[in-house]
Order: sequence, then C-alpha cells, then structure tokens
Amino acid sequence: MENFSFYSPTYFAFGKDSEKQAGSLIKQFGGSKVLIHYGGGSVVRSGLLDRVKQSLTDAGVPFVELGGVKPNPRSGLVYEGIELCKKEGVDFILAVGGGSTIDSSKAIAAGVVYDGDFWDFYSGKPITKALPVGTVLTIAAAGSEGSPDSVITKEEGMFKRGASGNAIRPKFSILNPALTQTLPAYQTAAGATDIMAHLYERYLTNSKEVEVTDRLIEALLLTMVHETPRVIADPNNYDARANIMWAGMMAHNNSCGVGRSQDWNSHNIEHELSALYDCAHGAGLAVTMPAVFRYVMNHDVMRFAQVAVRVWGCQMDFAHPEVTALAGINAFQNFLISIGMPKNFEELGAKEEDIPKLVEVLCRGDGRNGSISGFVTLNEEDCTKIYQMMV
Ligand code: NZQ
Ligand code: ZN
Repeated sequence: MENFSFYSPTYFAFGKDSEKQAGSLIKQFGGSKVLIHYGGGSVVRSGLLDRVKQSLTDAGVPFVELGGVKPNPRSGLVYEGIELCKKEGVDFILAVGGGSTIDSSKAIAAGVVYDGDFWDFYSGKPITKALPVGTVLTIAAAGSEGSPDSVITKEEGMFKRGASGNAIRPKFSILNPALTQTLPAYQTAAGATDIMAHLYERYLTNSKEVEVTDRLIEALLLTMVHETPRVIADPNNYDARANIMWAGMMAHNNSCGVGRSQDWNSHNIEHELSALYDCAHGAGLAVTMPAVFRYVMNHDVMRFAQVAVRVWGCQMDFAHPEVTALAGINAFQNFLISIGMPKNFEELGAKEEDIPKLVEVLCRGDGRNGSISGFVTLNEEDCTKIYQMMV
C-alpha cells in the first residue's frame, strides 16, 4: 500500500425528511446569506425546493435563487452565479439536485473568491479557497456530495474538464433516499453505472498489496449488483435506494481509493462523449468501460480475473486467466444492458465519423500532449481503437 493522506470532513445527514435540517446546518456552518442553486425543474415539481426554502426561512437564513443547471453543467451559468453571489453578498452556496448542480455550485464557490477566470481551476490550478458549499442530493450517481471534485463543460468548444481541491468538498450533505424515488428508470440506471465506474476506476490499480481497498470496492460492487435491479423493478423501494445512495457516496469520497494508484481513463474517454453529444455521463460510461477494459485487460489479467471471480461469480481458469478476465467484463456489460444502459455508439447517439475529433480533444485539448495516463497510458492510436470498439 502506498503512503496517503485522507481528509474528508463532510457532515452527512442521512434519511427520511433530512432536508428539513438544511437551514439549521447552514447556520451551524456559518452561512448568513445563501445562494440556492438547482437544475432544470425536478426539485420544483417534487416540492423539494419549497421544503428547503421553508427550512431556511424557519432558521432565519436569507437566500437568493439560481436555477437552470443543465446535466453536464455549463460554464455560462457559473459566470452568472459568480456575479449574482458578488452582487448579493452571498457567503454560502446550497446545491439542491444532482451532480451537475453540485458541480456548478462548487465552481461558483471557487470563482466568487478568485480574482481571475474560474476556468483556470479547470485548466489545472488547484482550488485552495472557496465559499462553503452544502448539498441536498436528489440522485445517487456522481458522488460529488462527498468529493473534492467538480466537472464543468466549457461552452466555447464544448469540452468537459474537472477541477479539484478540499476547499470545495461540501461542508454538509443531506441524503434522503426517498428523494431519488422520482427519478426516471434511465437516470437511476445511469447513476448506478457511474457509481460502479467510480469503483472500477479505483480497482484498476498498479499498486500492490491493497487488500483492504480491493475488498471494500468488491463489497460496494456486489451491493450495486444486488440493489440496482431491485430499484429498477420497484422505484419506491426505499431500502434499496438507501443502500445505493450510501454506496454512491462511499464509491467516490475516496475511502476505498486511498493508498493505491487509480485509473480514470474510462472517465476521460467518456467525458468527451457527454460533452459532444450531451448524453448522460453514466450512459456514456456504460459504452466506454467494456471497450477500455477489453483493450487494457492484458496489462494485468489477474486483476480482471480477480474481480470476475469475486464479483461476477466466474469460475477461475488458472490455465487461461484471460478467459476468466473476459468473462467478467462480459458479465459486467450484460448487467449494464439488463438495467437499460446502451451498449454502443448508435444506442448512445454517438457517430463513428466524429472519432478523430473526439481523440483530438481528448489527447490534445487544453494542454494535453498526445496521451492520457492511468492504469495504462493511452496514446491517440489507442484511444482511436477504443472508440472504434464502441461502434
Ligand atoms: O435538472 P433537473 O430537472 O433536476 O433533472 C435532473 C437531470 O435531468 C434529473 N434528476 C435529478 N434528480 C432527480 C431528477 N429527476 C427526477 N427526480 C429526481 N430526484 O436527472 C438528470 C441528471 O442530473 P445530473 O445532476 O446531471 O446527474 P448526475 O448526478 O449523474 O451528475 C452528472 C454530472 O456529474 C459529473 C458528470 O460528468 C456529469 O456532468 N461528475 C462529477 C463528479 C464529481 N464532481 O465528483 C464525478 C463524476 O465522475 C462525474 O464526472
Ligand atoms: Zn463518474
């Protein structure tokens, strides 16, 4: 296991009606004027926004609002939010929604206290200072509720980049699994796929002797395999929703990723798809991961065989471990298809003729020098072949 530091100070309020604590938690964490940031309207239709506003009013906390965050959140609304916060003297940001709303809130939080262009953080500058952020989560997926990360799409050029820093880790996150019961099945499945991707991206490591985190990841993957079909079959299954919601947080606050190198090539390859085609991030990952895994499998075939046996119940073939490894990847892809995720470019709405453009932005865009690194370093030729495998 490698040396690491781990600092994860988010306070979690989990369970039924927990959104009623929003006002008192903001006060506890020092907020005196709040921006409530939300998405395209699901929180308005469900009545959640009204309940959150009531909680702030009851706690005597004044607020302004900014809705309209799109999935794959855009830079334009971030600039708008920064201006609004400065004008209104906002000192706390409350995200009410999914990963997109939380990431947009984090970007605004960093931008308000920064003199330059907030995009600097998405071009590699670490975030060291930001307004405090709290979240009321409505979808188990991105894990942004417990992560130091934010992903934004730059509208000029439509490409997606991430920024990171403990300063944007939420001060608190309110997780009420019942709030996820209004999700369409496709979004539930896309969220589950993203959670599993966060686990696989950590599982694919070049570090040795990482049994504790291997076993944690396997447990969370097994939970997702068990619970996801249950919520697809019955969207109101609170207990299955609850297990998925906490698995989503655990998958991405890095408690199961410490002390080991991680991959993230599937995410990088996918981000160009959701930026260009505006598909759900999880749906893009469902198409991306099996292709990447098949392409890099031989780099460490025993790692793929291990997850095949421990998670997917495959029989170990000691004479031909590549057979076991491939069986595990096939089982994973079949699982994703069974929960309603796409399996190729066509089902995702992506186009083969765009592959050169995707590869160019992926490997050359925004300061990259011709390759992406992770479990395996992939150059432009590798990435071209991987995208072609998805067709
Ligand atoms: O916008 P509204 O109307 O709220 O609708 C949303 C949106 O259309 C809807 N939705 C959310 N909760 C709902 C609901 N509809 C009904 N009932 C509910 N309870 O679902 C749609 C998707 O929402 P979004 O916030 O985009 O989903 P998700 O949480 O999957 O976030 C995706 C974004 O997170 C980024 C992705 O790249 C993508 O941009 N990621 C962020 C990470 C991070 N910050 O750590 C890591 C991830 O790997 C990921 O890259
Ligand atoms: Zn993700």
